[in-house]
Amino acid sequence: MVQEDSYFGFIISKKCAPLSGSAVIPGDKSISHRAIMFGALAIGETAIGGLLEGEDVFCTAAAMRAMGAKVENCGKGLWRVNGVGIGGLHEPNQVLDMGNSGTSTRLLMGLVGGHDISVTFTGDASLVKRPMCRVMKPLEMMGARFLGRSNGRLPLTVHGAKDLLAIEYRLPIASAQVKSAIMLAGLNAAGRTTIIEDCPTRDHSENMLRHFGAQVTVDDIGNGMRTISLCGYQELRGREVVIPRDPSSAAFAIVAALINDGSEITLPRIGINETRVGLYTTLKEMGANIEFVNERIEGGEKVADILVKAERVLNGIDVPEYRVPSMIDEFPILAIAASCAQGTTKMTGLKELRLKESDRLLMMAKGLTACGVSLEMGDDYLIINGNGKAPVGGAHIKTALDHRIAMSFLVLGSVSDEPIEIDDGAPIKTSFPNFIELMNGLGCKITGKLGVNDNE
Ligand code: S3P
Repeated sequence: MVQEDSYFGFIISKKCAPLSGSAVIPGDKSISHRAIMFGALAIGETAIGGLLEGEDVFCTAAAMRAMGAKVENCGKGLWRVNGVGIGGLHEPNQVLDMGNSGTSTRLLMGLVGGHDISVTFTGDASLVKRPMCRVMKPLEMMGARFLGRSNGRLPLTVHGAKDLLAIEYRLPIASAQVKSAIMLAGLNAAGRTTIIEDCPTRDHSENMLRHFGAQVTVDDIGNGMRTISLCGYQELRGREVVIPRDPSSAAFAIVAALINDGSEITLPRIGINETRVGLYTTLKEMGANIEFVNERIEGGEKVADILVKAERVLNGIDVPEYRVPSMIDEFPILAIAASCAQGTTKMTGLKELRLKESDRLLMMAKGLTACGVSLEMGDDYLIINGNGKAPVGGAHIKTALDHRIAMSFLVLGSVSDEPIEIDDGAPIKTSFPNFIELMNGLGCKITGKLGVNDNE
């Protein structure tokens, strides 16, 4: 049974009235990391607007500073980066603590791999469990060397190579992090680096490298496959970068609106890059009224204002597997929508979910079961049987240092009969530091504080 008031660390979400109004979602996490990294590799100054000021991005900023770049905050979302040029990174004096951030770690492993320096990475209790072999393998083929714990886990030292060699590499898993790590290494490798992906993954590295003046070739080679290639020793030039607002963060407000009948909200300037909007397509197939208006390109990325109206109960559907990479971070919040939908929602091809900030398949299955949802979980699938009504709720949810598990259950608490409490809100600060204020501004009833952690 959930208590009436939250105490430190615990956060409670209670049933609320329909959501309404407009909200400014924070900047895109993937694009924010890349803006700092590419700015740090460029010659000259990069001015960044709308950067996500969340802990994961702060880890990237601190790492780039430790390796010689100047990264400064000039006030609300405005940042300035003075780069060292490709090949110009220094060896840091200390171990780099990447906190909870897999994206920072994996991309920086690629970046360091192409420099003649050695860098040791570590992270929090979640990050030290995550596999890094997927990045080590191609980087070893290029000439970098690694010393880590078993199965390539952190703490891990990268010994970069002075003369990195370009490779051609077919990604064994659909991963934008692995693709980007190879591209970052390829920037300082002799020859042309080519990556083959069987299924398109987010292409922010490709878009931003072009924005910084590099030549990156992307070819569709049939059956949804793509090759991405770039030559080493190109020069990046400092640029202005405007970061779109994060479609993965917007997803929490959108689902909260859709499951609260009568809601109507607007989220301006959300990134709608087609490699990121799989959840929105899926929700529309479930019957959601989600509209993109004022579609435009800003800083090489497509954005739109998103209007959401909750007019009907959603229907369960089968989510096609080819869509998984374009909504890889959105399965926890889709599972919440599916729990309130009428009928069965089948989500398959989800092996990668077990390797995220937590084992997301397991954490969602356990939490939803505790909230009274009927479901079936397998190695790589989740089937949720909705009855068109909000679940009972009334559970205390373990979040295992996973921001998206935490936010998903707080969204469910906005409709469940009984309040839902989460054990730890601190990880939400990695990607969505104003989550509680923003959601409450739209009408949610979430109480508690995100808490402190070791980085503060
Ligand atoms: C990311 C890629 C995805 C995603 C992560 C961010 C990125 O990871 O889950 O949150 O910024 O490149 P994978 O590449 O491991 O699928």
